Amino acid sequence: MLGTRESIIAVCYIVASVLLILGLKRLSSPATARSGNSLAAIGVFLALAATLLDREIVSYWEIGVGVAIGAALGIYAARRVQMTAMPQMVGLLNGLGGGTAALVSLSEFLRLAREGPVGASEATSVVLGTAIGAVSFTGSIIAFAKLQELLSGRPLQFPLQRALNALLFLAILALGALLVVGGGNPHFLWGIFGVALALGALLVLPIGGGDMPVVISTLNALTGMAAAFTGVVLHNQMLVVAGVLVGASGTLLTILMGRAMNRSLGNVLFGAFGAESAAGPSASAGGPPRTIRQTTAEDTAIALAYARNVVIVPGYGLAVAEGQHAVRELSQELEKRGVNVKYAIHPVAGRMPGHLNVILSDAQVEYDALVGDIDEGNALLQSADVALVVGANDTVNPAALEDRTSPIYGMPIFDVRKAKSTIVLKRSLGVGFAGIDNPLFYQPNTAMLLGDAKQTLKSLSAELKSMNGAGHG
Ligand code: TAP
Repeated sequence: MLGTRESIIAVCYIVASVLLILGLKRLSSPATARSGNSLAAIGVFLALAATLLDREIVSYWEIGVGVAIGAALGIYAARRVQMTAMPQMVGLLNGLGGGTAALVSLSEFLRLAREGPVGASEATSVVLGTAIGAVSFTGSIIAFAKLQELLSGRPLQFPLQRALNALLFLAILALGALLVVGGGNPHFLWGIFGVALALGALLVLPIGGGDMPVVISTLNALTGMAAAFTGVVLHNQMLVVAGVLVGASGTLLTILMGRAMNRSLGNVLFGAFGAESAAGPSASAGGPPRTIRQTTAEDTAIALAYARNVVIVPGYGLAVAEGQHAVRELSQELEKRGVNVKYAIHPVAGRMPGHLNVILSDAQVEYDALVGDIDEGNALLQSADVALVVGANDTVNPAALEDRTSPIYGMPIFDVRKAKSTIVLKRSLGVGFAGIDNPLFYQPNTAMLLGDAKQTLKSLSAELKSMNGAGHG
């Protein structure tokens, strides 16, 4: 029979688990994401409050000091972080989660080992929690350092790297087996911890900076698994449930990102793109000279004002330029003239999942105007008079459809060539994340409007405002 305190804790854990699951579900659509976040936050609060009721905790005083330090750092970091620095912030927080899971598993093992031989099932959970958490910790720190440009974003490779990683992995397995069979010599566990820390760093160093979001979501899944194993060690059901949810959602996110980029996880983890990203627009080298057509803000404003349907395709460049408010102002200016404006948002536009959705919501662009489905976006482009590509490159590159030799071949794209005319806003003919040339720029019905996206969008709005009455009105 459970005592009153245990019953309260058990009920709180069940309610908290339900809230976390409902919260995650609501995060799947921008319209419900905010309430999903609040539900999940209430769930976490409830889980923490219930855990604090447990008598097995350290003193409230120690917990209070930890919470105060963590909260102060968290509030400072969350206030200071720029929207463009979000991926590395998530990476850092994820790494701390993994490190915590590893340390909790480790310390719980040391406590159990003091009391007598540790059972095989508990020792197995400890090994997994410690090893996976430690890999996630150093892997995430390296990912953070690359995205923050504390380390070069280029893949850092050296001879026999994969052989060394395989050796470290085997060492973890061997030490784990010794720990489980041997009933608990803590030296083996310290060995696992140290080797796993090294392995995490070595796994992420050879991956290019641009691939880090996929790496971070993979590490996120690992942190979830580490937390779940730690929950098993602590006999804490809530930690198991939360860990499994993080593990499962991280895994799904990794799969979805991989699918949207048409790349396998192996392809990402072994750094195929990062090594090529310095290639520049050289694909045409040796081929016939190709010409681009440049246009002006004035001509573009006229084309937009007389259009019925405009599809804006934003990409990473819009985020870099912080042009979300400027693009919203432009679409409002067009809507005033009776132009129908939609945004086609590619699932991997930008550098983190939902990157463009987040920044456009920040500028209060209506959810109804956002089209996230590739087929739906392509259908809209078919009837569009103008496709306005703003800082997108790979996600509109027709090589993905036509060039079997292209590294992005097979990736679903928005085929902006379907629109009557296409205008591309970017600063140069420079490449995007995949580091490859874009044949779109040389199409007869494509015009390039070169310059910083925010400035260009502002001049387009200014041109429209000065064109009294032009358009459908
Ligand atoms: P990209 O292909 O990366 O192209 C962005 C373009 O923006 C660049 O070609 C750049 O050209 C332009 N740009 C940069 N700063 C600008 C500014 N201030 N003003 C105007 N233009 C600017 O972008 P995308 O189409 O969004 O594709 C995303 C890529 O990232 C895909 O390859 C995707 O697979 C990859 N990726 C995405 C994710 C997620 S989860 N979203 C994760 C990892 C990788 P200029 O230098 O000429 O201006």
